[in-house]
Amino acid sequence: MIEPDFVRATRAFYDTVAAAYTERFSEELAARPLERALLGAFAERVRESGAGPVADLGCGPGNISALLHALGVPVFGIDLSAHMVELARRTYPELRFDQGSMLSLDLADGSLGGLLAWYSTIHTPDERLPGLFAELARVLAPGGEALIAFQTGAEPRHVTSQDFGLGGDPVGLTFLRRSPRLVIELLERAGLTLRAQVVREPEGWEQSRQAFLFARKEPESAADEAA
Ligand SMILES: C[S@@+](CC[C@H](N)C(=O)[O-])C[C@H]1O[C@@H](n2cnc3c(N)ncnc32)[C@H](O)[C@@H]1O
Repeated sequence: MIEPDFVRATRAFYDTVAAAYTERFSEELAARPLERALLGAFAERVRESGAGPVADLGCGPGNISALLHALGVPVFGIDLSAHMVELARRTYPELRFDQGSMLSLDLADGSLGGLLAWYSTIHTPDERLPGLFAELARVLAPGGEALIAFQTGAEPRHVTSQDFGLGGDPVGLTFLRRSPRLVIELLERAGLTLRAQVVREPEGWEQSRQAFLFARKEPESAADEAA
């Protein structure tokens, strides 16, 4: 299969900045009580649903996978970048991390009780989102929960390896911002039902509001009733 340019660019960028990214964001969650509360609510929901394991898609250095694991969630991570996967494995040897793309997951239909896309859909262009969300809906079991985090807004931001303090030839990547309304509409079109949306104001170095969407693939009985 021919890989789209944006996938190649995303992998090249994160392979280059993996160590610097990991260092910069290693304490991020510790400073974000709202995010920890949202991840705690997500963990509770997926534990309660008992619908299967959770995939942390675009797991990066694996910090969120580790938090979910500590909350009693059976979780594994997947990331495009081999360097990120390597770092995650080294930091959390008790957890499983695989290299792969969430646009085409090597997972059976309905095999996940939950999935997390924590700032990992932000490099996928709008026109590819319907395909991406269809793939997420495919792998979720009925009753499975999704939590998606992203920056809101309209203007994309171009970031380079120099922004991470790295020398050499700069490697760049576009970070997309989106309206929650667009993402909700596309999730629902893919067959996922919005359960909650949280938008918070920018904090610290951030330049835009941050959105957190909880969505669910309806349990079979509810889907039957709606049909
Ligand atoms: C901004 S980082 C977020 C990492 C992690 N979720 C966190 O919050 O620390 C985005 C991550 O998503 C990964 N990613 C982007 N597109 C992906 C795709 N199509 N499949 C798998 N991983 C992807 C990148 O390689 C990168 O590690």
